Amino acid sequence: MRSIVASHRDDRGALLPILHAVMEEMGHVDPAAIPILADELNLSRADVYGVITFYHDFRQTPPGRRTVRICRAEACQAVGAAELADRATSRLGIGFGETTADGAVTLEQVFCLGNCATGPSVQVDGRLYGRVSPERLDSIIEVSA
Ligand code: FES
Repeated sequence: MRSIVASHRDDRGALLPILHAVMEEMGHVDPAAIPILADELNLSRADVYGVITFYHDFRQTPPGRRTVRICRAEACQAVGAAELADRATSRLGIGFGETTADGAVTLEQVFCLGNCATGPSVQVDGRLYGRVSPERLDSIIEVSA
């Protein structure tokens, strides 16, 4: 943690680049890091906690082995994202922001993946899928689980 901080200490608004680096390195921002970051950056713990909880991309718990993200923004909603959301939550038995009990899959909702023209869009571990039907979502989740 301290080496990540050291490599970004001189960045403008260092907290965000540091949190992104922590996510990249560790997959989540452990709450135990909050006092370290606050101390290193001369911020209050509340300041650090506020930033971590404001941005949904900063997880405080480790993700599953695979992360399935479903776009729920307007363009995707117009072409079936709500049906995909229902399918994913019932198929996996978890809600958004949760991980299956076996640690296989974390399900997240996002609000635009930059793939609006070919929605509804789903992303699995960074790989983008467009025009995802409920049946195709089943196979994507099957491969992910
Ligand atoms: S609205 Fe879903 S990718 Fe943009």
